[in-house]
Amino acid sequence: MNRKIIVLDTTLRDGEQVPGAKLNVQQKLEFAQQLKRLRVDIIEAGFPASSQGDFQAVREIARSMGDSVGITALARAVKSDIDAVYESVRIAQEPLIHIVLGASNVHVEKKFNRSKEAVLQMGVDAVKYAKTLLPQVQYSTEDASRADFEYLWKTIEAVVRAGATIVNVPDTVGYAIPEEYGELIRKIHDRLKNLDDKVILSVHCHNDLGLATANTLSAVKNGAEKIECTINGLGERAGNTSLEETVMALKVRESLYRCSTNIDTTELLRTSRLLTHLTGLDVQANKAITGENAFAHSSGIHQDGLLKDKQVYEIMSPEDVGAESMELVLTARSGRHAVKHAIAKLGFDTSNTDAFEIVFQKFLALADAKKEVYDHDLYYLLNDQREQAEHASRLFELRSFQVVTNDLCPTAAVVLMQNGEELKGSAVGDGPIDALYTAIKTLTGLDVHLTHYKINSISRGKEAVGRVNIQLDFQGKTYVGRAMDTDIIKASGQAFLNGVNAVILDQKESVQAF
Ligand code: KIV
Ligand code: ZN
Repeated sequence: MNRKIIVLDTTLRDGEQVPGAKLNVQQKLEFAQQLKRLRVDIIEAGFPASSQGDFQAVREIARSMGDSVGITALARAVKSDIDAVYESVRIAQEPLIHIVLGASNVHVEKKFNRSKEAVLQMGVDAVKYAKTLLPQVQYSTEDASRADFEYLWKTIEAVVRAGATIVNVPDTVGYAIPEEYGELIRKIHDRLKNLDDKVILSVHCHNDLGLATANTLSAVKNGAEKIECTINGLGERAGNTSLEETVMALKVRESLYRCSTNIDTTELLRTSRLLTHLTGLDVQANKAITGENAFAHSSGIHQDGLLKDKQVYEIMSPEDVGAESMELVLTARSGRHAVKHAIAKLGFDTSNTDAFEIVFQKFLALADAKKEVYDHDLYYLLNDQREQAEHASRLFELRSFQVVTNDLCPTAAVVLMQNGEELKGSAVGDGPIDALYTAIKTLTGLDVHLTHYKINSISRGKEAVGRVNIQLDFQGKTYVGRAMDTDIIKASGQAFLNGVNAVILDQKESVQAF
């Protein structure tokens, strides 16, 4: 009989630690709703002690998710962190406190500078305290793959006796290899089931050697009952275990693993695209399962084989991951009903008639400009619309601009609006974008530094929309700005301004929070 593997998604916690992937509360809620449609078992919604914004986001997610999904958030092994998790998740139907504490020698000695016994006691005390607040407590033995095994086991034994209901064994630095990690999980599994067979054994891997998915699968083969993953493998450094890869491997090779998950795999591609859209972090074209080319067969030999029988070169069908329903092509003649249907299919709420009408008018303008409108384009229309509605009067708006480019003296003239006031300026630069950015920067008066600029086309066709992602540094913090337009200079200017607006919003939020 198949074992059921519990899937915890940590995109909103471990994934969100990536520079530039910071989402606002509304975006996190939207993504959490999609994770619910994907049918993950548990959402790790954030690290509430880290900021007021994170606390608020976790609480909103806990409030709005209903009873089909568990909600957790991360705490270090200190009372104030555990309190913050408790206060933010308690309202959920199935709340869980997640505590993390280092277990390897290097963590104990270098990070804490304490004896092993003292660190172990910190973990036990933290679990005991968390248990006074909630019945479900997960304990993560950070850096477990580099820990001394007997100390690791001693820690696990002690926290289980203190009441932990889930023991998580992270490969925090992506050091493990599949055989070794599988063996570690097997040894822990054997002892844990003797100690208390109701305690769940969980795994959490990082991808520094490109082995996170392989290590997670090896752990499942050796007894892991719960896996922690992120969409698109987003996460610290090289990322975390990719949810879509692991879940599809378990499904495609079910007869080998004899395991299944609750995931609705037909929601995988939609979830991946939503994340890309919200964070601006693209998935590589040849990425397994969700990359642009994951189901594209280009060589003649392969195409010939496929025409004879799909099984010749296909181990899973695009429909299994929701690919066929992503092919939305709308035109200026598509009408309100079709556009509304397409937007709802992307997971957005269309019940507000006024808001929909604004989006529809933008859609018509875009469809006139580029003839065919794809789901990517709709995502951006919706995002633009929401950002404008949210921040209407407080921030800078790009009213008009002119750019002259030549090999002598590229120049830009810009008109911005702020609180009903018109601001005009001009600048020269090394090139047209540099001139445009210098003019905008001078008008806003913020000493931001451009650290990253990327332009690519979204969707297909020669009239494709250009999407610009930028990163700004302001006082050591990274901010992102994104924009799209059929005019790539305008998209560039707007993306820069969105980055500047993100700095201003962050400063306002920090002032309000403290
Ligand atoms: O990588 C890690 O060790 C973590 C823990 C908090 C589970 O993210
Ligand atoms: Zn991690």
